[in-house]
Amino acid sequence: MEESTGSGEELKGPMSSSPANVASSMESAASVDSERPEPSVLVLFGASGDLVRRKLIPALYRLCRDGRLPEPFAVVGVSRRDWDDARFCEEMRIALHKAEGGGESGAAGGAEGSGGKGAVAVESDCWQHLEASMSYAQCDLNDIASYAVLKEKLDEVVGASGVENPVRIHYLSVSPDFFVPIVDGLEASGVVTGPGGRDRIVVEKPFGRDASSAAALNERLRRAFDEEQIYRIDHYLGKETVQNILVLRFGNAIFEPIWNRHYIDHVQITVAEQLGMEGRGGYYERSGAVRDMFQNHLMQLLALTAMEPPAAFSAGAIRDEKAKLLLSLRPFDGPRGPGGSERVVRAQYTAGNVRGEESLGYLEEPNVDQGSRTETFAALRVEIDNWRWKGVPFFLRSGKRMPTKVSEIAVQFHLPPQLVFPQAAADAFRPNLLALRLQPNEAISLRFQAKAPGPDINMHPVQLYFDYDGAFQQQELADAYVWLLHDCMGGDSTLFTRGDTVRLAWELLDPVLSGWRADTTSPMPTYQAGSWGPPEADALMTRGGRLWRRPPVDDPTPAR
Ligand code: BG6
Repeated sequence: MEESTGSGEELKGPMSSSPANVASSMESAASVDSERPEPSVLVLFGASGDLVRRKLIPALYRLCRDGRLPEPFAVVGVSRRDWDDARFCEEMRIALHKAEGGGESGAAGGAEGSGGKGAVAVESDCWQHLEASMSYAQCDLNDIASYAVLKEKLDEVVGASGVENPVRIHYLSVSPDFFVPIVDGLEASGVVTGPGGRDRIVVEKPFGRDASSAAALNERLRRAFDEEQIYRIDHYLGKETVQNILVLRFGNAIFEPIWNRHYIDHVQITVAEQLGMEGRGGYYERSGAVRDMFQNHLMQLLALTAMEPPAAFSAGAIRDEKAKLLLSLRPFDGPRGPGGSERVVRAQYTAGNVRGEESLGYLEEPNVDQGSRTETFAALRVEIDNWRWKGVPFFLRSGKRMPTKVSEIAVQFHLPPQLVFPQAAADAFRPNLLALRLQPNEAISLRFQAKAPGPDINMHPVQLYFDYDGAFQQQELADAYVWLLHDCMGGDSTLFTRGDTVRLAWELLDPVLSGWRADTTSPMPTYQAGSWGPPEADALMTRGGRLWRRPPVDDPTPAR
């Protein structure tokens, strides 16, 4: 590892080529990509922030450990903090130590040997190699002049690399208020010189607050970058099990023929969270469940579950099909009456008990307005007006402070057209169900009836079951950010959202949000923290003679 002078004069973080022994001395025996991405510089805007510390630095470490980082490669951290290269590295080292389960230590001179995997990580050749590639530029993101400092730093890093024109990835891990100022600054300083160059831009959510602000942001980005250079992040798309939806559907012959209205009664998509605000009340007040979870994550899960087979496994073909699906969604005309219309429910959690722990109500959370009508739970009945899905409702729900953390897609099939068994045998009868558990305990199971042993015909629901842990025992599932960074470096935007799909998702949800905004008088529906949501959400189901699933807390087998 290079010594840091801390003076900022000596180039601390040249684009370093991996020492030949780094890949081979890595702790894991993970497989190595046959092709590494092109030489790249990753510019991390918001380098002192939580996402960089908790997700991006650990993801870079994992990519380095698995031999998947570009060669050469450099990281330039950018933030307002008065840090130098050495301080940036130290902060990131502490972050990695903590993320790898080693607690708060990990600073230079910190408790050596304590902290298990965290200590192993920060002492590894791999981390030392990464540190040697890291440097820092202090910038005020609202001050155009600051971007000259960044340009100088980038020129230094690139000059030292010996690579004439590496890919430059500008990762905006910052509040959305800074998205446009950063693009302005990159252009004004000449770092970015218009669409079509070697630059890529990664934009975190939220991408706009509604269709018109998303369109304005798209339009601003497109003046500086081609669509292929823009990587809009939805971290759900990087989850292994979310990617597996396409493999399940299109890598097997048995599911697709029955994946339609002839065989499927309805689909439930649940993203339940046990956590509440965790200090994010201020952010959440401006967001709410629909903006925070539905516009992005749930709409993407819906699109992957319901889209037509793509012509190829390519970013363009897959994103075309997603856009087509979103275009087929029946518009919401805005909620009516308390708690929303027939197809829309919102609610807020009140104080309760979540798995044995007392929990505050939303209105008691820090930075939440006493009279807030922000929804912490929403449920939608989505209708898809196309040949495949006509008449098959998709029920989507997501909420904070639910009994457990679970994300799943449950596909419930029709009952057999005629039951030939005696009534007594049919008492325990349950319709077939294919449940994709996205997290935790990533698994897929199929529920069907079996004959219970004995002299009589008695049916009992049983499961065919697959889980990632059991089937791929040697392979630790990577965090979504590992694959998202990896793909962005490789120029593959399949797992990122395209401008038109972001706009279409907003267009669907805007009337819901504006209807709620306009309703300032009807009582806000509530649910107790630790429950599965308000009675209004149950009514959304029971009106059609259906019931929400109640995934058993801590039960790893999804299709019960
Ligand atoms: C984020 C939301 O996008 O997703 C958070 O802003 C939410 O509010 C999180 O908690 C959930 O992600 P995951 O991967 O934990 O399901």
